[in-house]
Amino acid sequence: MRIDIVTIFPEYLAPLELSLVGKAREADIIDIAVHDLRAYATDKHRSVDDTPYGGGPGMVMMPEPWGAALDDIRANAEVDPWLVIPTPSGYRFDQGIATTLATREHLVFACGRYEGIDARVAEHYGARDDWAGVLEYSIGDYVLGGGEAAVLVMVEAAVRLIPGVLGNAESAADDSFSKEAGPALEGPVFTKPPRWRDLDVPDVLLSGDHGRIAAWREEQARERTEQRRPDLTQG
Ligand code: 6GU
Repeated sequence: MRIDIVTIFPEYLAPLELSLVGKAREADIIDIAVHDLRAYATDKHRSVDDTPYGGGPGMVMMPEPWGAALDDIRANAEVDPWLVIPTPSGYRFDQGIATTLATREHLVFACGRYEGIDARVAEHYGARDDWAGVLEYSIGDYVLGGGEAAVLVMVEAAVRLIPGVLGNAESAADDSFSKEAGPALEGPVFTKPPRWRDLDVPDVLLSGDHGRIAAWREEQARERTEQRRPDLTQG
């Protein structure tokens, strides 16, 4: 998979060199390039934003630098890329979306700041036949200062689902929210020592009875989901 990320804060994406995503890059499973939007600004102040038509607070990102940056990325691409625009006004990003993104050959993330990107950018690239499509996603019901932190979330959620990225092929299968597990949260987990500060690991987990252990874990997951996320319980 190829991932391009366009931002006015390239340093914000430095964590993508670490941990799971960093290892996937070292293993050449993914190739990530981060681009500075200001390199595509045309005036001497390297402006990327301007006041909103119709009035109102804040600034809007200008379409011209975005057009120049995205056309440059497309000119160096081998397949029609998907353009992903993180925005609090987007469709909700979830595990199902992450699973779909994980199957794509080329993703381009456009990080907006200020009040967002001029809407004609999404409209234009959505109509281009040399782009696969435009996807606008929100990572939750709160407002961030820009799309960069959301891109860190979306890239990590998708990349860990690419075959060969996780050490154990099964370790994504019973995650909270995974298809196989149903829409439920995972229950509590324990490791050694068996007693820590007067707290014991539940006996059942030390019993060696795999049937009882599976039933206990299922019940714990069900109770936790009911308590914390009743919106995820089916009935
Ligand atoms: Cl994707 N961007 C911003 N700026 N804020 C958000 C978000 C995205 N998702 C939730 N809040």
